[in-house]
Amino acid sequence: MEILRFDNVCKRYPMGDGVVNALVDASFTINEGDFVAILGPSGSGKSTLMHLLGFLDSPTEGGVYFENRRLEDISGTQRARIRAEKIGFVFQAFNLLPRMSVFGNAKLPLAYHSNPPPDADERVRKALALVGMDHRANHKPGELSGGQRQRVAIARALVNEPRIILADEPTGNLDSKTAATILELFEELNRQGRTIVLVTHDPKVAERTKRQIHVLDGRIARET
Ligand SMILES: Nc1ncnc2c1ncn2[C@@H]1O[C@H](COP(=O)(O)OP(=O)(O)OP(=O)(O)O)[C@@H](O)[C@H]1O
Ligand SMILES: [Mg+2]
Repeated sequence: MEILRFDNVCKRYPMGDGVVNALVDASFTINEGDFVAILGPSGSGKSTLMHLLGFLDSPTEGGVYFENRRLEDISGTQRARIRAEKIGFVFQAFNLLPRMSVFGNAKLPLAYHSNPPPDADERVRKALALVGMDHRANHKPGELSGGQRQRVAIARALVNEPRIILADEPTGNLDSKTAATILELFEELNRQGRTIVLVTHDPKVAERTKRQIHVLDGRIARET
């Protein structure tokens, strides 16, 4: 079943007198149960693509479809709601709120829920335990290492049990052992039926996904 579809999507950024073609004519479909790696050199358009996938940004041209509905036909309020309830984000920068505890940060997506689950705190504890950060629940992000912050960001992405997880370099700041744990976690989530799209520079990470999309100079160069 189709979750997300790009139909000839272009993203251009104004740049001085000219433009940057960050994404050019991208077309592909993400189906339920997919485990996709987005690969490509720095500046090739991977984060641009991820932002569009999570409708954190709108395309300059072309259509982005979520559950067969064109993004333009979905109101801002509804988009925010879909994002909060159905999409889990792991950003390249961690984007944790510095004044809030690890627990509070991981609980954030549930705070935006239109219908917060009664077992919210239990879910947060479970997600933190999954990434091995339950012992740091009362700490502030500033008291954590880069890898630990990344793990909290992953717990935050999991806590609302999203339909799709979008992760930009989720293992980029982790040592190989922690990275392997996180990757196993993603594999397990995918086995449970969760759809995952992740950006990676690491061929070893990409090898473990089911599908690889290669981006080069804003274009989808090939799919393997
Ligand atoms: N807000 C912006 N304004 C102008 N240009 C931008 C903006 N965001 C990205 N770009 C440009 O678009 C191109 C693609 O950027 P993007 O961040 O998608 O690359 P990336 O593949 O994620 O790179 P990296 O691996 O380094 O994270 C780059 O040339 C970048 O400079
Ligand atoms: Mg990027």
